[in-house]
Amino acid sequence: MTNDRERWGTRLGFVLAAAGSAVGLGNLWRFPYLTWENGGATFVMVYLLSVAVVGLPILVAELVIGRRSQRNPVGAFRLLKPATPWFLVGVLGVIAGFVILSYYSVVAGWTLHYALRAATGAFVHHTPQEMADRFAEFVSDPGEQILWHAAFMLLTMGIVVGGIRGGIERATGLLMPLLFLILLVLAGLSLASPGALEGLRFLFRPSLGDLSGELVLAALGQSFFSLSLGMGAMIVYGSYLSQETNLTTSAIQVSILDTLVALLAVLMIFPVIFTHAITPTESAGILFTTLPVILTDLPGGQIVTVLFFLLLAFAALTSTISLLEVTVSWAIDQRGWSRRKSTLLLGTTIWVLGIFSALSFGGGWLAEVTVLGMRGVFDIMNGISSNVFLPVGGFFIALFAGWALTRGAAEEELSPATGWSTWVSVWKVLVRFVAPIVVALVFLAAIGLL
Ligand code: TRP
Repeated sequence: MTNDRERWGTRLGFVLAAAGSAVGLGNLWRFPYLTWENGGATFVMVYLLSVAVVGLPILVAELVIGRRSQRNPVGAFRLLKPATPWFLVGVLGVIAGFVILSYYSVVAGWTLHYALRAATGAFVHHTPQEMADRFAEFVSDPGEQILWHAAFMLLTMGIVVGGIRGGIERATGLLMPLLFLILLVLAGLSLASPGALEGLRFLFRPSLGDLSGELVLAALGQSFFSLSLGMGAMIVYGSYLSQETNLTTSAIQVSILDTLVALLAVLMIFPVIFTHAITPTESAGILFTTLPVILTDLPGGQIVTVLFFLLLAFAALTSTISLLEVTVSWAIDQRGWSRRKSTLLLGTTIWVLGIFSALSFGGGWLAEVTVLGMRGVFDIMNGISSNVFLPVGGFFIALFAGWALTRGAAEEELSPATGWSTWVSVWKVLVRFVAPIVVALVFLAAIGLL
């Protein structure tokens, strides 16, 4: 074990950073639009189940692998199982980090632009149609897309270059409490609107008829995406932990925080949507078209709207830093680069890759290319990473933790004190059998092999 490795300052600092990675556009943008597309409550229930049965055990597995090895994903598998192909799981993870960050930062850039616009009062008295037109205009403007994507990558790099304690832990310790505060205020406002009851019914009264293979895969993919699983982000965050931290407690706290934010997000969005009886036309655009119209109409609407977009920007930022940190930790450990050089080179490369996504809303071949029914570079990146990379990565990470780790390794990581042995046995069954089988079945069913 390397002793000069960077470390989290406090356990709370680590939990907030990991929750910061988990809580992001996945919770505030992706979860609501998937919930809408999949008809509400049934999706929400399957999602919750998937977090508990598959997500949580894999989160624990990643933390175990990370702390045990004290390495980035590639180095971790190499160290724990030398001279085997297992390191390829780490390679897949680092690649996934590249791809996800490249398109994620594009949407994150939108939130900055919208926060600024809201502050100048640009949304007052707009109809949903006007908002949709503006949105379409904005996303198809190449200059704006590249600029805001660049701005967000720069912010991310500015934090990651500061390292674990001075950069990531400090930023997330500040941003996460702010985010909770804003979210609570907004959800409260929304629940006070007349559509609250209808919103609650939509969200929490499931009907079995809605259940389908696609719904289950979408829920499973979302639980991976939301908890930042399947590509080693939590291996990396775990690798900066020292031996005292209880991994299970931390993993439970992170999952609870993440789920809470996802639920608050839909509680914030659907009551106001039902109150205004607006049917979101383009579901992925709800946050940028439908919601600002409603929010600006509330008392103090302009401030509320600014808060809302700041909320999105903060949440996105604490996630993009974790995505960049995966690739940076790889470069530092495996290539021996300095943190500064890694951040600069990798950040810039990811920005360049992201330009393809950034320009894919404006027509032309970037918007037209179609792979497996996904249309446009942005959708392809989004779909492939969360529906292919993450489930495949998660599948192997579970198998690795369940079967490949040396006897006693997981026990050592998970039983800091007596009284945890039952949990360790339960966890073993989950990562050995339940998680891999569920992921494999759902995955095969979704790609049509079952
Ligand atoms: N979990 C984040 C969100 O919900 C996104 C994210 C950050 C992520 N790091 C990740 C997703 C690693 C997958 C893997 O927005």
